[in-house]
Amino acid sequence: MSLLSVRNLKMAFGGLAVTNDVSLTLDKGDRIALIGPNGAGKTTFVNLVTGQLKPQSGTVHLDGEDVTRANPASRVRAGLVRSFQVTRLFTEMTPEEHVAMAVMQRLGRSRQLVSDYRAMPEVMDEVRDILGLLELGGIAKAPVSAIAYGQQRLLEIALAMALRPKVLLLDEPAAGVPSSDTVLIEKALAQLPSDLAVLMIEHDMDFVFRFAQRVIVLAAGTLIFDGTPKEVAADPRVREAYLGSYADAGSLA
Ligand SMILES: Nc1ncnc2c1ncn2[C@@H]1O[C@H](COP(=O)(O)OP(=O)(O)OP(=O)(O)O)[C@@H](O)[C@H]1O
Ligand SMILES: [Mg+2]
Repeated sequence: MSLLSVRNLKMAFGGLAVTNDVSLTLDKGDRIALIGPNGAGKTTFVNLVTGQLKPQSGTVHLDGEDVTRANPASRVRAGLVRSFQVTRLFTEMTPEEHVAMAVMQRLGRSRQLVSDYRAMPEVMDEVRDILGLLELGGIAKAPVSAIAYGQQRLLEIALAMALRPKVLLLDEPAAGVPSSDTVLIEKALAQLPSDLAVLMIEHDMDFVFRFAQRVIVLAAGTLIFDGTPKEVAADPRVREAYLGSYADAGSLA
């Protein structure tokens, strides 16, 4: 039994099939990249899996449990966590407060005031560990509005980790990050627990090839490839739909 099993998902917007009978499975420890042209339906796929959107047909099972109709919050509690393509942080709150809020949410203590975490040593320890892991300890008490965008994106990964997911779906975690800082994101991803299943949407193919053991390609809502990074570079359909310019630039072996 797969950890995450997506079967025959379908979604259309105004007659345009954006998710066209997509099926895939994720297992413990997977590192998967989801690639495809702009508008291919990558974010929509993540929205369907995590419950921000309800599919017109198809199913999503987590750990054998049918979560197709479950709301996003209960999927998070079940271990299905995502990040967003555009940051969704509170500009006046600090990284420490953000991570504390996520830890308290996981512990079912989100009805308490966020500031109460300072009196909870076990929450404080965890917050410190997570921020340290992502090298955000030095700016733990600065408002988000005062920290660099690359650090904001790292904070989003920290928030996802604080929820202790089984499956983590990252929607372009390096989008908008200056290339000098993408190494920080890569380093953060390398620190994720090895049994966590991670699917990452990413356009930078060099990053994709360093990260993924398996690559999935969506084009116009249809899954056209599911295989190894080595095979994806050689696949004629993928080259035509997406990788042509990359391959022609001579970056692929
Ligand atoms: N809520 C919506 N209502 C109508 N159309 C939508 C909606 N969300 C997405 N779409 C359309 O569905 C298609 C797929 O969009 P989606 O955001 O999933 O693509 P994507 O692969 O994530 O693209 P990108 O690489 O640019 O992030 C696009 O044509 C988009 O305009
Ligand atoms: Mg997208």
